[in-house]
Amino acid sequence: MEIRQNFSLQPLNTFGLEATADNFTAIFSENELRTALRSGLRPVFILGGGSNILLTGNLRGLVIQNKIGGIEIIPKSKNKVWVEVGGGVVWHEFVLWAVENGFGGVENLSLIPGSVGAAPVQNIGAYGVELKDVFVKLSAIDLKTGKKQGFSKAECQFGYRNSFFKNAGKGRFCITSVTFELTTAGHKINTNYGDLQKTLAENGISNPQISDISRAVIQIRSSKLPDPAKIGNCGSFFKNPEISREEYDNLLEINEKAPHFPLPDGRVKVPAGWLIEQCGWKGKRVGNAGCYEKQALVLVNLGGATGEDVKKLAADIIQSVFEKFGVSLEAEVNIL
Ligand code: EPU
Repeated sequence: MEIRQNFSLQPLNTFGLEATADNFTAIFSENELRTALRSGLRPVFILGGGSNILLTGNLRGLVIQNKIGGIEIIPKSKNKVWVEVGGGVVWHEFVLWAVENGFGGVENLSLIPGSVGAAPVQNIGAYGVELKDVFVKLSAIDLKTGKKQGFSKAECQFGYRNSFFKNAGKGRFCITSVTFELTTAGHKINTNYGDLQKTLAENGISNPQISDISRAVIQIRSSKLPDPAKIGNCGSFFKNPEISREEYDNLLEINEKAPHFPLPDGRVKVPAGWLIEQCGWKGKRVGNAGCYEKQALVLVNLGGATGEDVKKLAADIIQSVFEKFGVSLEAEVNIL
């Protein structure tokens, strides 16, 4: 384990923003992590795939990139396995591994950028499935004490793009492994999401297997979301706002076509992409940052943007959505 100084984080964040870490190291095991912590360098920031951070300046202290690997299969019952996956494993590589092995449960979460250890932090979700649906437990190292701690599903307090690790547990842990429950037979195929049904029909598939779902999700994501290797981005920049029925009624008075998804508690989720598009931002460029032309919820680095450029664009979008619709958008990306 080597600690490097003034280390460029540009290749390690999917926005491709230029920023350095005062000190940087990559760790491949829990013991290497403990050694890094013993350096005494503070504050510590744990980096996963760098796909949900907006760097607005250099990072002080010590940046630790979690590269802890490994996948272990734990047979559970006739139709179920538990799979314990290292926090540094690339999420999509884990999904492809599961699909290839005929393990069901994560196929709807294909092609999500980032690492397995970062996935529970924001309870990643797409096309009708969230991480919490397949989650069993996780192991983490307390950055203060170096001690290992287990977290059950309840302790993780999962919500929409939210968890304990974004609230009281923020910045306190490095997630070293995550255990999932996957099916080996009798898979729960989830095709509720409209886009997914449409793509499967276009592919001529009426009885989809997990590999068909994975392929269709990859197709949809590739057609709507920019590839971070080509255009810097962090996926959805904002959360879809959840508003009250009254607020939604006000929205309908402004635009009777406002799309919405009813929530179990009577509130309503409105697609932020639609609100942003209605305010004329879709495809708009401001300096070197922009609002993606095919999905307004995604902000992009069009080349040479700074974190401040993206942050300013986000603030302008929040203000204009609020002025037009009275709805407050909240960033989903972690702004550093
Ligand atoms: N829409 C527009 N204009 C746009 C974009 C969206 O009008 O530019 C409206 C349309 O009505 C569309 C609806 O929004 O039907 C939903 O759009 P989409 O299916 O693309 O999903 P989303 O709500 O914009 C969410 C997640 C994505 C996830 C997709 C699919 C959040 C913040 N985002 O986006 O997650 O892939 O659903 O499940 O919940 C991410 O978190 O980084 C991410 C990409």
